[in-house]
Amino acid sequence: MSRFYVEPDISIAKTLHTDFYTDAAVFDLAKEKIFSGSWQFVGDVGMVHEPGRCYPFTLLEKYIDEPLLLTRDQQNTIHCVSNVCTHRGTIVIKEPCKTANLRCRYHGRQFGLDGHFISMPEFKEVKNFPTADDNLARLPLFQWGPWLFVSLQLHAAPEPYLQDMIDRVGWLPVNDFVYRPELSKDYIVQSHWALYCENYLEGFHIPFVHAGLNAVLDFGNYVTELFRYSNLQLGIGKEGEGDVFDLPASSPDYGKQVAAYYFFVFPNMMFNFYPWGLSINIVKPLSQQQCKVSFLTYVWKEELFNRGAGADLNQVEMEDEEVVEAVQKGILSRYYRHGRYSVTREQGTHHFHRLIAEAME
Ligand code: FES
Ligand SMILES: [Fe+2]
Repeated sequence: MSRFYVEPDISIAKTLHTDFYTDAAVFDLAKEKIFSGSWQFVGDVGMVHEPGRCYPFTLLEKYIDEPLLLTRDQQNTIHCVSNVCTHRGTIVIKEPCKTANLRCRYHGRQFGLDGHFISMPEFKEVKNFPTADDNLARLPLFQWGPWLFVSLQLHAAPEPYLQDMIDRVGWLPVNDFVYRPELSKDYIVQSHWALYCENYLEGFHIPFVHAGLNAVLDFGNYVTELFRYSNLQLGIGKEGEGDVFDLPASSPDYGKQVAAYYFFVFPNMMFNFYPWGLSINIVKPLSQQQCKVSFLTYVWKEELFNRGAGADLNQVEMEDEEVVEAVQKGILSRYYRHGRYSVTREQGTHHFHRLIAEAME
């Protein structure tokens, strides 16, 4: 049995062994075991807003560190390709730009915007050239509304990760959501990335840690639903709470006073839908004891912004960081290895630990 085994029965299960957070080799191993097969948020279609646009980026900088390139070709198809030249391995495109073809700065190899090899100077004498290996690797890209997701695994299916969320809130006019850079922000948190996630995954701490949020949410009716690689915490508004979704009859939640949908997609993505729009939080590992959490704000109904359960998110974040950073100190203790779960309040955290255990096997 792996040292990270977590019992499926939450009532007898112990939490993940602290070696997961403290062992440097495990932190590295998780790159392949947990992240390489997952779907990762890239950004939105505005990054390549017209044909010919190219947007280079590094997937999970300082951790996965994979150089990738987003492009939009002349047929308006968006691609995600490796940004590493198949000749001698330099970075092909350094800055966002508009171009007909991708041309490597080093020795002039050219590729189409979908990554296929086009030409190479001084290569007439080279035998068995070009082959499929000379194309830039093309990665699976998934689009929901304006949002783009990529997987490093060439044949990964997005549905087990994303479809449950899409089915649940698919009635929202997500293409009308507007990205607001001035309302978006990165937070550096002094904790292991998984500690940040597992705090997010339980509403148990809300009455203890978030006085403002607790005044809005009905803790008694707060529920967690588990899916294959994602889960949902449904925040029901207190009696009289006005800032709730105006749900269509087609919604499975029709008739409920939903103040917030908190979706978690394994291993590191959070999608918080409020009546005003969406706050996406991406947790990016930086080191064993530090992560960066990118908050991206998409506003749908401006007049509802910063109200209800989606108010003062910066304040809520400060409250979360304080407890998560204290856990980071605590898990280094020689006296703590495992905890236990509340059967009614920590299903999300248990689910997350089970998924980690499964991936690390
Ligand atoms: S490394 Fe790109 S052409 Fe040589
Ligand atoms: Fe919290």
